[in-house]
Amino acid sequence: MPSVFIKTYGCQMNERDSEAVSAQLVARGYTLAPSEAMADVVLLNTCSVRDLAEQKALGKMRSVIGNSRRARPGQIHGFLGCMAQSRGAELVEQMPGVDLVVGTQKLHRTGEYLDDLLARRRGKIVETGDEEGSQSEVRDHLVLSGSAETAPAQVSAFVSIMQGCNQHCTFCIVPATRGGERSRSIPEIVDECRRLAGRGVREVTLLGQIVTSFGKREIPVAEGRSAFVQLLDAVHAVDGLERIRFTSPHPKGYGDDLIEAFGRLPKLVESAHLPLQSGSDRLLKLMHRGYTLERYLGIVRRLRAVKPSIGVSTDIIVGFPGETEEDFARTMEACDEVLFDMAYVFKYSQRRDTPAATMEDQVPQETIEERHRKLLDRINAQGMAKYEALVGRTVEILVEGPSHRNAARLEGRTRCNKIVVFPGSPRHVGRVMDVRIERTGTFTLYGDPAIVNLDPSGDDDGVVTGAVETVGMSHR
Ligand code: SAH
Ligand code: F3S
Repeated sequence: MPSVFIKTYGCQMNERDSEAVSAQLVARGYTLAPSEAMADVVLLNTCSVRDLAEQKALGKMRSVIGNSRRARPGQIHGFLGCMAQSRGAELVEQMPGVDLVVGTQKLHRTGEYLDDLLARRRGKIVETGDEEGSQSEVRDHLVLSGSAETAPAQVSAFVSIMQGCNQHCTFCIVPATRGGERSRSIPEIVDECRRLAGRGVREVTLLGQIVTSFGKREIPVAEGRSAFVQLLDAVHAVDGLERIRFTSPHPKGYGDDLIEAFGRLPKLVESAHLPLQSGSDRLLKLMHRGYTLERYLGIVRRLRAVKPSIGVSTDIIVGFPGETEEDFARTMEACDEVLFDMAYVFKYSQRRDTPAATMEDQVPQETIEERHRKLLDRINAQGMAKYEALVGRTVEILVEGPSHRNAARLEGRTRCNKIVVFPGSPRHVGRVMDVRIERTGTFTLYGDPAIVNLDPSGDDDGVVTGAVETVGMSHR
């Protein structure tokens, strides 16, 4: 059977989509190739959020096509996902080696398209139309060999709960590439979580472009709880799951019901991603974000009142059109006030057909670079102190598997989403355990398994900070 290699750019939703496409292809008899050089089909699942992400995928495709001409002449090449959606047929026209373009609502049909291409039933295929119900098609997981009883093969899994976004922030291309908001049903999502828990999965991350808007139109508020909080309640009841995370939310979705859920649901970990984008009310309005800085700070305060140890991370854009020194100073001050655990700092990138792309006063590139560096330095400095404060403390971690940095050690995550590397044995994988933090590294804590459980509630989790300079759209 033909072999496939999929390379993924961008956010966790793209990772999840690639996994679902892989699972779908494996079910049709395709095999997964270990590298693009050994594959009959190479698919790039793309990101459009910033120009850099698009340029990377385009450059990669050029090199894959170039190599295949010499070494693998029959190789099939396809673009999937957001850039496929936004550029469509122009990708085939501009790159003669591209055979397939699959938009975000057609990903579940990738197998049919490949079958047609390989059997030469169709020539080049470009499919970027809308498809009703496509949000429910991101449901296949790669076959996991573990079980709840033996060591699990996978401890943490992504579950897609909704697709699309109606917020239309003026800088953002996502509403165009992912379409309008479409949610899956609660029973469908709970069923997927149950099956994952049955295979040994201990943690789920609920995914969507704006998860807090989940089911807003379809599921009425019940007993003061929004559809999203009702979903959290339902997933919380799944036996075998230990932890629930979600991303990406919108600050406007942090109503009292969600804040209260952090206090009420022990599986909902102390970690909140709260995209701020800017600390200037003037810019927040131009960005169409729908909140003021004061309202945003109020959410952080209320979350910390319920869970003092909660880890708060954010996304910030520097260099949005018209951003003055004054506006930028507001953003720096907002960071001083919140003291984020982690911030993804993005340089503003003009995206086609977005309102911000044609706004006046586009900020010069060198100013963007300068502000980006300044903000990163500030956030990193704030982070260092928090890292060090954790040394000597005991934190609860969920053990995920061998460390990515050193396979002789294990790696787990704190409830507030920080990686901890420690010496352990394979039997620890999938377990929730306490670890004493011995020292810190960059974005990594080093620990020793604790003999005495100092705080069984798990509330002893420390807060770690740090900024990440994002190159791809890699999230969290
Ligand atoms: N809710 C979505 C957001 C996607 S965009 C999700 O995470 O799935 C992620 C982040 O990219 C945004 O929060 C924003 O900070 C940044 N971003 C979006 N458009 C951008 C642009 N045109 N230039 C720079 N950064 C951008
Ligand atoms: Fe983009 Fe704003 Fe939605 S950042 S994904 S339009 S909430």
